[in-house]
Amino acid sequence: MRKILILGSSGLLGSKLTSGQYLKKYKIISQSLKSKTHINVDLEKFNEVKKMINLTNPKIIINLVALTNVDHCEKFPVEAYNINVNTIKNLVKAIETSSCKPYLIHVSTDQVYDGTGNCKEKDISLSNYYSFSKYVGELFACQLKSIILRTNFFGKSKSVTRGSLTDWLYSELTKGNTINVFEDIWFNPISMHNFCKIIEIVIEKQFEGIFNLGSHYGMTKASFAFHFAKALNLSNLNLKPIKVSNVSHLNAYRPKNMMMNLTKFENKFKVNLPDLIDEINLVAQEYRDDQKKF
Ligand SMILES: NC(=O)c1ccc[n+]([C@@H]2O[C@H](COP(=O)([O-])OP(=O)(O)OC[C@H]3O[C@@H](n4cnc5c(N)ncnc54)[C@H](OP(=O)(O)O)[C@@H]3O)[C@@H](O)[C@H]2O)c1
Repeated sequence: MRKILILGSSGLLGSKLTSGQYLKKYKIISQSLKSKTHINVDLEKFNEVKKMINLTNPKIIINLVALTNVDHCEKFPVEAYNINVNTIKNLVKAIETSSCKPYLIHVSTDQVYDGTGNCKEKDISLSNYYSFSKYVGELFACQLKSIILRTNFFGKSKSVTRGSLTDWLYSELTKGNTINVFEDIWFNPISMHNFCKIIEIVIEKQFEGIFNLGSHYGMTKASFAFHFAKALNLSNLNLKPIKVSNVSHLNAYRPKNMMMNLTKFENKFKVNLPDLIDEINLVAQEYRDDQKKF
């Protein structure tokens, strides 16, 4: 069995990817900084990274390690640089000097865009420290045999420490709390389920380059919340559309339009990526299935 080292396995996406539902043909080695995974390694320490690669000898590495809290990154840029740049810098250096030379799948973000929609891979616009640090991380990742997937995702979290956008929406909707939802932020995320299925194809093909990975017919975060409530038959009366530009307590600027053009990925991999509305319905089912367990 080919070995896959999944870095950042305890996180939101990592917990889904290592849940046992995906990558069944591979031997998975999970890593995190301090959570319950096969190995704990601080990727900021080069010698530890080098030792990890040499001991595990993987054929494939999926890198999900990041500091994803946008406001925290803005407030603590050095910490953001250490986690979003120096970890990948160490990883690249360790892979280069290893004998196994694994294929690297590096996950990045749609926050590197802030356009008028339909952003192609070249249409970079860095508007906050998170996006800057993730972009610099990409520059290191592309020095190797690697693929960089710029994405955004949602779904029911399997992580004990990290909740998702839909976990928060579901919790607030069911409690009947007022929820402010942004009507001036556009995105086209993919479900974590389909992201994980696509990773299996990416591993098989081993193409290199930078690709957007999301869904078709993106929408505003407010529309997303209304569709999610409808899919779950929950009242939308407490959803309050507001403009992020009118919110003053956020540390970091939020890109208004992160909608990604998906043509490059679809043409190269010969797949049709899903429509966002279908993804919302699929994820709503994850919450319904979970209700049935109790
Ligand atoms: N969350 C989103 O909505 C979103 C959207 C678009 C793109 N992305 C990208 O998708 C990827 C995965 O995001 P996520 O939300 O799943 O991340 P996450 O939940 O924040 O998880 C981060 C992971 O990184 C590990 N980690 C942090 N610092 C480390 C260090 N110094 N050394 C080793 N491991 C370290 C954490 O381990 P511990 O648990 O032990 O701390 C955890 O496993 C990231 O590249 C992110 O930029 C995320």
